[in-house]
Amino acid sequence: MQSIYLVGFMGSGKTTIGIDLAKRMDFAWYDLDDLLVERHKMEISKIFSTYGEAYFRKEEQLVLHQTYSWENTVISTGGGTPCFFDNMEWINRHGYSVFLDPSISILVARLEKGKHKRPLIKDKTEAEMEAFIEGKLTQRRGFYEKAQLHIQGKFESEEAVELILKHIENQ
Ligand code: S3P
Repeated sequence: MQSIYLVGFMGSGKTTIGIDLAKRMDFAWYDLDDLLVERHKMEISKIFSTYGEAYFRKEEQLVLHQTYSWENTVISTGGGTPCFFDNMEWINRHGYSVFLDPSISILVARLEKGKHKRPLIKDKTEAEMEAFIEGKLTQRRGFYEKAQLHIQGKFESEEAVELILKHIENQ
């Protein structure tokens, strides 16, 4: 079966749900950021600070393209992956796509905890972060919404996994 690509903002649950979904389907699970870290032997924030975002986006696309022929795999993309180049169209040509879309308040609460690892938000206060998420999500939503399945609101990982399985069964 073609790969399942999870897309959505930072903190939307791509990693947790990706791992749970892969377990449930007995699929392999990969995270594009992890593949990039492995390739560069460097943390994401270090790649950003050393080479800049434009370089990071090219490398991110390269790693995405490496998943071209993978099968029976769940892939958690980076929050920006679908929003650069033709990445979202590429994803839709090569696999199933799912947009995880929790509310802004859920995103703020989750990202406050894990922000040090994320170069785009690591220096922001909680108030700045909320404004940043609102602005960025507005810019990015159109890309994410090209996904074949949209899971919205307040959802636990288990519920998202069930919805994804149902969606795939009906294809
Ligand atoms: C980014 C999201 C991050 C990572 C990088 C840039 C973004 O991935 O790729 O920090 O542009 O939203 P996660 O969504 O896994 O945090």
